[in-house]
Amino acid sequence: MSKALEGVRVLDFTHVQSGPTCTQLLAWFGADVIKVERPGTGDVTRGQLRDVPNADSLYFTMLNHNKRSITLDTKNPKGKQVLEALIKTCDVLVENFAPGVLDRMGFSWERIEALNPRMIVASIKGFGPGPYEDCKVYENVAQCAGGSASTTGFRDGPPLVTGAQIGDSGTGLHLALGIVTALYQRTATGRGQRVDVAMQDSVLNLCRVKLRDQQRLAHGPLKEYPQYGESLPFGEAVPRAGNASGGGQPGWILKCKGWETDPNAYIYFITQAPAWDKICNLIGKPDWITDPDYAKPEARLNKLSAIFDTIEEWTKTKTKFEVMALCNPLDIPCGPILSMKEIAEDQSLRATGTVVEVDHPVRGPYLTVGNPIKLSASPTEVVRSPLLGEHTDEILKQVLGLGAEELAEVRASGALEPIVKQAAE
Ligand code: COA
Repeated sequence: MSKALEGVRVLDFTHVQSGPTCTQLLAWFGADVIKVERPGTGDVTRGQLRDVPNADSLYFTMLNHNKRSITLDTKNPKGKQVLEALIKTCDVLVENFAPGVLDRMGFSWERIEALNPRMIVASIKGFGPGPYEDCKVYENVAQCAGGSASTTGFRDGPPLVTGAQIGDSGTGLHLALGIVTALYQRTATGRGQRVDVAMQDSVLNLCRVKLRDQQRLAHGPLKEYPQYGESLPFGEAVPRAGNASGGGQPGWILKCKGWETDPNAYIYFITQAPAWDKICNLIGKPDWITDPDYAKPEARLNKLSAIFDTIEEWTKTKTKFEVMALCNPLDIPCGPILSMKEIAEDQSLRATGTVVEVDHPVRGPYLTVGNPIKLSASPTEVVRSPLLGEHTDEILKQVLGLGAEELAEVRASGALEPIVKQAAE
């Protein structure tokens, strides 16, 4: 076995970002991922945010590597038959349709289970059962409903969404874990099961430290939050904490040399307690090592902002990389604010396969994020995303074993013809 999930066949009904993130991971681990798309248009992201005319967008290509694409009208009677046959031969069906779509298509869990009792049906929805279960949901809705937006940003500003796609890609990651766990359980039970992940739940899971703080609030002010040092009262809910660290070691983003013109000339600086002496010496404040107002972490909590202002006077005299070079040998944790340009050019990320250059027959070479999960016995090779319907014949012949006559029958049924009404949507 050269890949961890070799032999696992995935019927991939996903679209946009959340579901495709999950099935791309499964494909990178060696699963045969068959992406079922609407004839004519396919995954809506193929055409969204296009940068090269008539080429699949980067939005699509960067989320659909290592998959095969079949186009099939699953509302056409013959298309439904083909889908049934695929369900019988696959191990996992993954979907992130709007609530109720799969049932309307005629493929409820009960029906799928009857067709293939070993099938794992994995679904992403915006919300779990409850008042919002029927809602259509996109990334930022989940960030807002999952507690991220109310706790991101500065206290005196509005709630903020973050650039990290924790609602979509974060949920895809959760779903992938659910699927491999269900596959593992199947080895003992011989049966499939449903795997359901709600985007709101995934975001909340990633925000659990903020639910921690919500409960700590009942026992007094959150002393590591900047407003404590500013003597501002806390309300009933966890406030936005700016760039404060979510853990027990205070941190903040500080300006570095060049900040006046470079929007990313900043560093995240953590005043970790065991490194305090070294920090004091480094920034020219050796008296803080013994001064009772500064020596102990508890004593520093009510003046963190002023402490970071002082450290910033020092970081402003160095570039973010110079600060890194001086702090790292002293075990002072810090991290440069890297722009996407710097990340794209970073040779060490290329060397590990985290940033990969891929060639595409229509758009040419482009950069993508490779598999961030490195398995020593299951290496990942990133293969370009499929063109729309590129593997339709191949899948009908190889996976379903259709002969020339049956293939002609499927064609004649119209199940592979562009869906005109939906294409215009
Ligand atoms: N053949 C025929 N019809 C197909 C098809 C195929 N191969 N694939 C999809 N369709 C149809 C569906 O049956 C559905 O038709 P219906 O509404 O008449 O039943 C239709 O396409 C639309 O599917 P849907 O998933 O509802 O797309 P949408 O554009 O209306 O909604 C989302 C998009 C993302 C809002 C919605 O899918 C959603 O809420 N998904 C769950 C949460 C999620 O993952 N959100 C994040 C996306 S990154």
